[in-house]
Amino acid sequence: MKKLFGILLLMVMALVIAACSSDSSSEDGDDANAEGGDSNESAESGGGGEGTVEIFSWWTGAGEEDGLLALIDLFEQEHPDITVDNAAVAGGAGTNAKAVLATRMQGDDPPSTFQVHGGAELNEGWVAADKMEPLNDFYEEQEWMDKFPQDLIDMVSKDGNIYSVPVNIHRGNVIFYNKKVFEDNGLEVPTTYDEFVEVADQLQDAGVTPLALGDKEAWTATQIFENILLGELGPDDYKSLWAGDIPFDDDRVVAAAEKFKTVLGYVNDDHASRNWQDAAQLVGDGEAAMINMGDWAKGYFSNDLDLETNVDFGYFAFPETDGDFMVITDTFGLPKGVENPDEVKEFLSVLGSVEGQDAFNPLKGSIPARVDADESKYDEYGKDAMEDFNNSNLTPSLAHGSAAAEGFVTKANQAVNIFVTQLDVDNLINTLKNAASEL
Ligand code: GAL
Repeated sequence: MKKLFGILLLMVMALVIAACSSDSSSEDGDDANAEGGDSNESAESGGGGEGTVEIFSWWTGAGEEDGLLALIDLFEQEHPDITVDNAAVAGGAGTNAKAVLATRMQGDDPPSTFQVHGGAELNEGWVAADKMEPLNDFYEEQEWMDKFPQDLIDMVSKDGNIYSVPVNIHRGNVIFYNKKVFEDNGLEVPTTYDEFVEVADQLQDAGVTPLALGDKEAWTATQIFENILLGELGPDDYKSLWAGDIPFDDDRVVAAAEKFKTVLGYVNDDHASRNWQDAAQLVGDGEAAMINMGDWAKGYFSNDLDLETNVDFGYFAFPETDGDFMVITDTFGLPKGVENPDEVKEFLSVLGSVEGQDAFNPLKGSIPARVDADESKYDEYGKDAMEDFNNSNLTPSLAHGSAAAEGFVTKANQAVNIFVTQLDVDNLINTLKNAASEL
């Protein structure tokens, strides 16, 4: 009897050990689409556990994942001993991923590393909550201090400490347009708001949707509004607005809301049921002429729709914002409490390397965050964006979490979402004013 009990006990222990060490990670980056799911339930504490690096992002599917998969491939070639668990959660701009991440961080179950925008999202969010390890020594070891623009290092720093590694720089104030549609209608690209309205009117008369919008997720409309605000306020006052130094009932903010209302008169009727890719497709197909979208849309046009830069589609700065660059930088850091920080740093080291950035960015539509990447790997769009980045006023995006803390961004998205249907300028201004205490 005693012997039988002993055997049973051993069997139970073996099962417990097997369950604890079972690894839910995928062996292969291609196997990556944990869409809407959290594939790290087996981790005892933070991260993917010894031998595994769990990479958390919202890069799944069309227009999003190609760059990440190329980066993972490179990492796996350089570190065959480390397994990558690609824990991406679908939803543009992190609509779903950010909620999953918040739950995990609050439950002390951080991924090994996660996508986070430089600026408020990182600094007022996870750093302020004391959830991130400083990476100053790591930057020194990697000899990175002069390899990233100081402006970018500032966006990932708080109180003198650096907290993440930027993989890219996206631009948010771009309009992509269908070249054939513009040619067929004899149109020039608009540089001012008035020219934009003229062009849009002509397109509408010709039976073409002037501006594609897919605001199934509200951030796409918020993105339009922030670009109008930038045009109306100029880069310095745009920044002052998010610093709480300019009130939301300032005449120029009200004028921006009026313009936003006009611009929304030119979008496709089914905007509320489309995501950003579905909206961009309208431009690819020529059903719509233009879309304001961060330049991840360039990755989508090139890789997924097979369209050629400056042949099938062109691009120009959002009206009134030429000379400004709305910066969106995706970064990855080291959360406190991960089991294998050294392995996570191996991943960050590849992500921050020239090779890593040049594997990722030409596919993503972004430009490298590093100053010494290989320009020849980028097409005309990338080269133009690099030049513009170096010669523009840099401004932080609200829609992508850099300009203001998450609490405000959420309220702004809700207000914009209501505005898109009600077009009530007073209501938008009042709601933003009330939310300003979160700034
Ligand atoms: C942004 C992110 C980009 C891109 C985009 C659409 O927030 O910085 O890399 O993924 O969302 O999902």
